[in-house]
Amino acid sequence: MDRVRIVGGKPLYGEIPISGAKNAGLPLMAASLLTNEAVHLVNLPHLADISSMAHLLRELGVKISMNGGTFQRESANRKLELDASNIVETTAPYDVVRKMRASVLVLGPLLAREHAARVSLPGGCAIGTRPVDLHLKAMEQLGAKIELTEGYIEASAPGGLVGNHVVFPSVTVGGTENVLMAAVLASGETVISNAAREPEVTDLAHCLTAMGAKIEGIGTDTLRIQGVERLQGVEHAVLPDRIETGSYAVAAAITGGDLLLRGARMNLIEATVDLLSRAGISFTEETDGVRVTRTDGRVRGVDLMTEPFPGFPTDMQAQFMALMSIADGASMVTETIFENRFMHVPELSRMGADINVHGASAIIRGVPALSGAPVMATDLRASVSLVLAGLAAEGETIVNRVYHLDRGYERLEEKLARCGAEIHRLAD
Ligand code: UD1
Repeated sequence: MDRVRIVGGKPLYGEIPISGAKNAGLPLMAASLLTNEAVHLVNLPHLADISSMAHLLRELGVKISMNGGTFQRESANRKLELDASNIVETTAPYDVVRKMRASVLVLGPLLAREHAARVSLPGGCAIGTRPVDLHLKAMEQLGAKIELTEGYIEASAPGGLVGNHVVFPSVTVGGTENVLMAAVLASGETVISNAAREPEVTDLAHCLTAMGAKIEGIGTDTLRIQGVERLQGVEHAVLPDRIETGSYAVAAAITGGDLLLRGARMNLIEATVDLLSRAGISFTEETDGVRVTRTDGRVRGVDLMTEPFPGFPTDMQAQFMALMSIADGASMVTETIFENRFMHVPELSRMGADINVHGASAIIRGVPALSGAPVMATDLRASVSLVLAGLAAEGETIVNRVYHLDRGYERLEEKLARCGAEIHRLAD
């Protein structure tokens, strides 16, 4: 299994291109199931999760090709064509779903277009139990019959889905996306209350609208959808990845450097900008991206609570904690989205961080410096927090199990090395 070796202590200077957002790309790919015309997605990141979704869609009969078969290095030049004119299968098998929970996003589109879907239950995962009960209840409200048999969700709606009022008791990104994709082809009106407002949900809604869907309230917590008979093909550019942007902003902050994050958009990262500014990091919007600088001494300790958008994203919590490990003063981090998202804490502690966890909160008392150590990655964002800590630490850090990084960060070592980081992949 590959590992990443980092020798820390070098401030990063230069430019990092930000890729398209993984969490927008996955539902957009699933949305191709809603039409028999070709969907073209530009700026998809080259990541393991995107390949897993392509693999699943191919099994369902979607024909997929990249720029006529030629792979483009820069994601902005990449165009994926997805042609679901001939859906041959409505089962998402265990083998694919177990690797990537977002596979459940085919449930809504398959039910809407084929009136049937059989999707393996995702089961538990490293950051909590992560059930799909809210997705299933909402599909039932749209008229689907759901049964759970032998680890599979068996869903059917022989007469087609029918619009309804869906009220989510708590905010769910994937649940909102699934219902949105189901409702665009349902008969009549669907209203989604307490909808997720994440930019990736909004990106999906804009793409669906360009395909002919009728959606009001985009970007708000109430989405009103008038079902249509059919959707058409589209060309859509995936929005920049706000979590990749935030992660590299922390790379600038934690090493005391200056990075231009090319293609990043300030309006997608406001909660991160607000918090890191209070910690002493400066952000400037430039014509081609966002510049992040830390020049004036140590970072200050600030408190944080994760929240649904527009609050601070749970997917940035681990990276922020790595930064707070070397802050001047203490910081309290409270995780409100997932119940078990502190697995990076014991690893950061092995690098010299002073962190105490009490239930859903962690107190981090900043230390002057971290020291390199062999560490183990447990999930995607935990892994990148260890890379970030390694960039700031004295000496050598080896991050094991980097396949987690490959799920969410395109060319991570190359992007960081170009800005002066000493980072290499060690292949076993
Ligand atoms: C998405 C993101 C993930 C991010 C998360 C929260 C993708 C591919 N992934 O995941 O990176 O960390 O949003 O911003 O976009 N829940 C239930 N029942 C359900 C659905 C969710 O109890 O049916 C709970 C979850 O366990 C969790 C919370 O609701 O505690 C939020 O989950 P959700 O917003 O659905 O996350 P995902 O869509 O899986």
